[in-house]
Amino acid sequence: MKNCLVAQSGGPTAVINSSIVGVIKGNMKAQYYDNVYGGINGIEGILNNKIINLSKLEESDIENLKYTPSAGLGSCRFKMKDYNTCEENYKELFNILDDLDIQTFFYIGGNDSMDTVSKLSEYAKIKGINKQIIGIPKTIDNDLYYTDHTPGFGSAAKYIASTVLETYLDSSVYINNGIFITETMGRDTGWLAASAALAKINGKAVADFIYLPEVEFSQEQFLKDVTNKFETNNKVYIVASEGLKDKDGNYLSSVKLSNKHDTFSHAQLGGVGNFLKSLIIENKITNRVKVLELGVSQRCGMHCVSNTDLQEACLVGENAVKYSIEGHTGFMVGIKRVQNNPYKIETFRINASEVANKIKYFPDEWITADKNNVTKEAYEYITPLIIGSPNINIENGLPRYIQLQSKDIISK
Ligand code: F6P
Repeated sequence: MKNCLVAQSGGPTAVINSSIVGVIKGNMKAQYYDNVYGGINGIEGILNNKIINLSKLEESDIENLKYTPSAGLGSCRFKMKDYNTCEENYKELFNILDDLDIQTFFYIGGNDSMDTVSKLSEYAKIKGINKQIIGIPKTIDNDLYYTDHTPGFGSAAKYIASTVLETYLDSSVYINNGIFITETMGRDTGWLAASAALAKINGKAVADFIYLPEVEFSQEQFLKDVTNKFETNNKVYIVASEGLKDKDGNYLSSVKLSNKHDTFSHAQLGGVGNFLKSLIIENKITNRVKVLELGVSQRCGMHCVSNTDLQEACLVGENAVKYSIEGHTGFMVGIKRVQNNPYKIETFRINASEVANKIKYFPDEWITADKNNVTKEAYEYITPLIIGSPNINIENGLPRYIQLQSKDIISK
């Protein structure tokens, strides 16, 4: 008997379930593993034996899962301790894998999850454990090194650009329109905020300013930008990343997290839009300021998903299975952009240790000279990633989604 296990970790995306489906379908094609198991709540749940058998799913449920946003298996933000000082979790985990005849563990996640892939595969190597640990990339933040982009980003970018287009129109209807601020996610990087540049009407970008975390936030410059634009146009459309920081490196807005939610010590962000709104009002530019904090809606909007993104999320899952059959371990599946026009990609392997805990920032050279917008290179890079809209399942006018049942937990 030879089985595999797949689990999800970190913040969800609209297409992360498509990667699970990729693993299931990759295995159906290869007929390699006897069962594809699913770990509930990532490594945290697996350590508590919360595992279900995905090979028991009906074909229609698998198809439905592909078009269901958020993490179907649940997620976690759990940092594995160093195995040199605390081996307990490592022993427990490999015992669980042994009990269920699991040869390969596929972990779908971002740079924190690749830390887990890297540590587990190193531990297995050191201890002579013949098991494979493989990373499958995902994150709306698009901040993983070496891969051209991450599954999940394209759909979030499409959601952001569509929302910016529509809210721009809505915020332009009066004689006195005021100022509109859209706040995007992106803890450390500005890839998501930059995707607002795709929103154009008659070839002209609708966002007047895009503020990224890569640029130190200057209150003085911000007030100058907004005052000048408001005086000229009588309206201003601003896009701001939740990750904006002041000159001392402090987030403009954050809430301290309890250890329970996140052992990677990440701050919980959100609220930058309202911070900027207060600045505008306090400085008497105008009282008419509206804020839209996109929040989690930008990472679970299946109704606005990118088909390119959805299919690539499935492909990285499928190819992870292919690479596992070739016997590889300790890597993440990466995406290489072979050409931009027509857009073409292929996958490759990259050591998980090289991706773990690193952040790929939005390139400096794609930020405009006045530091409040992005260049056409950013537009050209992001555009292919948002192309296409799949036919999602609709029932009574709404998307039909599936929730995997944790009642089906198996234990040996
Ligand atoms: O993992 C990406 C992300 O969506 C970030 O953009 C955001 O700051 C963070 O997750 C929010 O995480 P959570 O939903 O766990 O608070």
